[in-house]
Amino acid sequence: MIAYKNYSLKKLNTFGMDSQCAIFIAMEDPTDVFKLDKAHVFEHPHYILGSGSNTLFTKRFEGTVIHPVFKGIEIKEETDDDVLLRVAAGETWSDFIDYCIQNQYYGLENLIGIPGLVGSAPVQNIGAYGVEVKDCIDRVEGYYTNTTQEFILAAAQCQFGYRNSLFKNGLKGKALITYVWFRLSKKEHYNLSYKALADEMEHQELSLKSVTDCILKIRNSKLPNLDEIGCAGSFFKNPIILRSRLAELLENFPDLTSYPVDDEYVKLAAGQLIEKAGWKGKRVGNAGVYDKQALVVVNYGNATAEEITNVYQAVIQDVYAMFDILLSPEVNIL
Ligand code: EPU
Repeated sequence: MIAYKNYSLKKLNTFGMDSQCAIFIAMEDPTDVFKLDKAHVFEHPHYILGSGSNTLFTKRFEGTVIHPVFKGIEIKEETDDDVLLRVAAGETWSDFIDYCIQNQYYGLENLIGIPGLVGSAPVQNIGAYGVEVKDCIDRVEGYYTNTTQEFILAAAQCQFGYRNSLFKNGLKGKALITYVWFRLSKKEHYNLSYKALADEMEHQELSLKSVTDCILKIRNSKLPNLDEIGCAGSFFKNPIILRSRLAELLENFPDLTSYPVDDEYVKLAAGQLIEKAGWKGKRVGNAGVYDKQALVVVNYGNATAEEITNVYQAVIQDVYAMFDILLSPEVNIL
């Protein structure tokens, strides 16, 4: 492992915040966990950072940032139907998706274009265009940081839910993910449940190339190019509310979009609520809400943490005032 003091995180967060941490560790091997334990790192404030695509640093982090850089994709089992892969936490998500496409492994292609590292994917159960990563995760491997004991948790044990998992709850701050195991299909099949994708693909021949090209086109039409505008994708989670509450809301807002969750609950589109609250495309100083997708809080360049914070808090307040719904950030705010 390599350790640095007073390390700049500017290139390690997609919001582009010019923040620092007291100590930065590039973890080159899973067994570095024992060195970190010996150095008592886990007894003090620490944060495991992938590529910072879901983190907002609002101040200097007075602790240790641990950044996995170890890579590797290993085939553990293979049949005519599927393949079981063990993928290192430090692999970039996009390299892994490219690998799946090249080898014609089906299941994760709708998640093309999502920034981040493989080790972060299960934490918030990344999802887009009708697919969540949990759909293809077989198990998650890592260490409990309080004991350095190894764990292998089957997907069913990971408590995956919408943008949620055990790693964000019971194991928050207590686990270091080293490998994610994926079971992918070798049989050609696609998930076209996202309407805009289905509409577009109606006129095209289905292939991994055409589907992923289409997803990238949809993504680029809604989400900022991170080389130009800083952000962390959706800043808020889509709120889940009771069906009875939706019925009340529909009296005043008959065009509200909702998606069924179960018999009792539905999910609303936070982007629509934010748009209705007047925030879509609004800019305050160097921060604002993206003009093509209101779920995205953006840094137009050199925004201070205060500017970003003022914007996201004002969005929460205005949505609450209008709908009596409290949005919760999807992004980790440090
Ligand atoms: N909508 C608006 N105004 C907006 C944005 C959206 O009215 O400014 C409406 C749309 O018209 C649509 C609905 O909201 O009816 C849903 O919009 P969209 O399909 O774009 O998806 P989303 O719910 O806003 C979620 C994920 C995205 C993911 C897309 C596509 C969350 C928090 N976000 O957004 O994930 O790419 O679905 O599947 O669930 C991310 O997590 O960072 C992310 C970008």
